[in-house]
Order: sequence, then structure tokens, then C-alpha cells
Amino acid sequence: MVIRGYESTCDDVAPSSVVRALSHGTGGTRRASTGRPAARDGTTGRTRRGDGPDGGDGPDGEPGRTAGTGQTGGPGQTGAAADRRRRATVAQKQFLSPGENVAEVTRRAVAVERGVSIQPLTPRLGAVVEEVDARGPLPDSTVTAVLGALMAYKVVFFTAQGLTVGEQEAFAAHFGTPFDDPLTRKVDGHPGMTTVTRVDHFHSDHMHMADPPKFSMLQLNVVPEVGGDTMFADLVASYEALSEPMRDFLEGLTGVYVSRDPSEDVAARYGRFLGRDLSEDDLAEVRQALVPHEHPLVRVIPETGRKNYWLCRRFTRAVKELSPSEGDALLSFLFAHQLRPEFVLRWRWRPGDLAFWDHRTTLHAGIADYGERERHGQRASIAGGRPVPARGGAPGAAVPRDVLAGVR
Ligand SMILES: [Fe+2]
Repeated sequence: MVIRGYESTCDDVAPSSVVRALSHGTGGTRRASTGRPAARDGTTGRTRRGDGPDGGDGPDGEPGRTAGTGQTGGPGQTGAAADRRRRATVAQKQFLSPGENVAEVTRRAVAVERGVSIQPLTPRLGAVVEEVDARGPLPDSTVTAVLGALMAYKVVFFTAQGLTVGEQEAFAAHFGTPFDDPLTRKVDGHPGMTTVTRVDHFHSDHMHMADPPKFSMLQLNVVPEVGGDTMFADLVASYEALSEPMRDFLEGLTGVYVSRDPSEDVAARYGRFLGRDLSEDDLAEVRQALVPHEHPLVRVIPETGRKNYWLCRRFTRAVKELSPSEGDALLSFLFAHQLRPEFVLRWRWRPGDLAFWDHRTTLHAGIADYGERERHGQRASIAGGRPVPARGGAPGAAVPRDVLAGVR
């Protein structure tokens, strides 16, 4: 070694059927979605929906916002009907694009049939979910539709939700078991909820752990007037853009994932992160949570059966099967490739927006361009992200000490 419950949908639905389903428009109750900052109700921390100017989508060219997400009327109104027709036309063009995956098309159609509107931000990464009130209770069909959108678009956004901590915790529970994060400050009284920490490099949370989180759900309540956007990178699209021989080569490789050396003095750093003085038991838990692990470079997403690589510059430090120079060259190429503009999305926050993303198929980064201005909110993460190797094998092995020593 050299170091340095989702409900699947049928895949055989013809695209024409899908287009017909889309053309039916959406059911359910439509509510205003303005794309503007929602007014704050200071007593509850909840945002009031629809207080901004109707139809506003932000300045032209604003990253992370689709044109036409603003809605000015209810079902049956001329403007709404025209809007639905326009969106169906847009959707038909998108869904009939060459190379479209029929399973994804089907999931989107199912979402529409169940009264959840999915507005893509780009062809493959990011969508705004409308017609869902995250305060719930959510019917199973809605949960399925949201998960379908998440599998297809990897990150979905619910605008102007303004959930309380408890409401977000309950919303997240529809999608899995809370991830118990020993490295991030928890919200008092809500063990499944953490405060927001900005990490300004592309990463997936806790990649070095044997069992990293599967999903995260972040709501920002206070955001700078400008700045503090979050970027996401599509690990499926960029992986699939590689040549077949390269993908085949990567499938046989193992990455070494390191956060910090657990033997270093972590008391001060994690005392600050966790917001308290750490006891010996706390420190032991932190050190255990920092143990580096190996993962397959290419993983399978069970819900979709698709493969993608799973790596980032910060945490993927070496390739187990390659020499240091070989590993460095390969990883350097992949780190640059995975962040090409066509694979990246930038979301501009408004207070109360909620982002829900799949850690297995994306990287994310908060942009550190807002100085001392306030930016905070709350996050729920969901367990179950242990990589399933594309070629079998045992995932999640701890990295031996002698191997770890060679990484730095
Ligand atoms: Fe993160």
C-alpha cells in the first residue's frame, strides 16, 4: 500500500407518457412563492409567506434562482394557467433532451402527479420544490415525490419556509434517522439539530467517518443582504462525463479520507465548535469521530442504481492502490474536473429558505465573502451515508496509523 423506503418508480414508462403527465399541471393547493425575502415574525422565528412583491425572482442572472418561480394567482386564474403551460413546455424540452435517464423523467412526472411541483434550476443539479408546506404533516406520496426530486436533482430547495427548530426536526424525520454529529454544536433540546458552521471549501460532511451522514437539510434564518451563498457540485454528472476507461479505472480504487489527526490536541478547537468545555469523555468521543477511514472512490446509490465518484480535495488525501505521484496526479485532475462550471450550482439565500441535499452525490461549500455580517440558521442531518462500493468489498475500514502517517 502506498499512501500519500424511497419508493422506486417504474423505469419503463415511455417519455411520451411522462410528458402527458406533466402537461396535466399540478394538483394540490398553490401558495405564493415569491423568491423574495419573507418578513420575519419576531415572536416565533417564523417567516410569513408571500409578503414580498409577487412574481419577483431577484435580479436577472441571479445565481441559483430560476426565472418564473414567482406565482401571482391561484389555480384557475388565467395567469396561473399560462404559467403552467409555459412550465410544461419548458419541462417537455428538458425531459426530451438526449441522454435523459428515463428513471429520472419518471420520478419527476410522479412528483407532478402527486401535486408537488419541481422546478429545475439546471438540467441535472438543483430544483425548487413548490406546493409543499414543510410544516406537514406530509402524506407518504409527498415524501416520495420529494425523495424522487432529490434523487434526480441531488439538492432541492424549499423557499421561504421559516420553520422553527422543532418543525424542521419533524420535517427531517420523514426522510430518515437523525445523524448524531459529535463534531458540531447541537441545538439545546433538539439532539437531531445542529447550528450552522460555514465551511468554505467543497466537501461532503464528515467524509472521513465510517458512517457519514446521508442527507442534510439546512435552513438559514438570517442572511447577509448580499453574500454568503452556498455552492453545490454534482458528483454524478461530472463522474458520468469521464471516459469509460477512466470510470472503469476509478471503480477499482480506494480513497483515504482524513479530516484531522485524532491524536492532535483537539480540546480547544472542538470546545469552540461545540460551544462548551469538553470533558475527558467528550474528548474521547471527538477523537473517535476523527478516526480516518477508507472508502471506495466510486460508490453506488442504492435508490437509483447509479454510480458516482465520491471525493474532494480537502478530505481525500491519497489513493490506496497508487504510488504517491500517481495518486496526486489522478486526484488533482479529478478535483479540477468535478468543479467545472457545468457541474456547479450557486444558491443565493433568502431568509427562511431550506436546502435539502444528498451528501452521497454532491459536494457543497459556503462562500466566505460576507465578513462579520450575520448568517445563521439550523441544520438537520440524516444518517445512512456509508458508501456502497461499486465493485463490492468492505467499505468504511479505518486507516491504519502507519498509513495515516504517510498522508501528510
Ligand atoms: Fe458541510
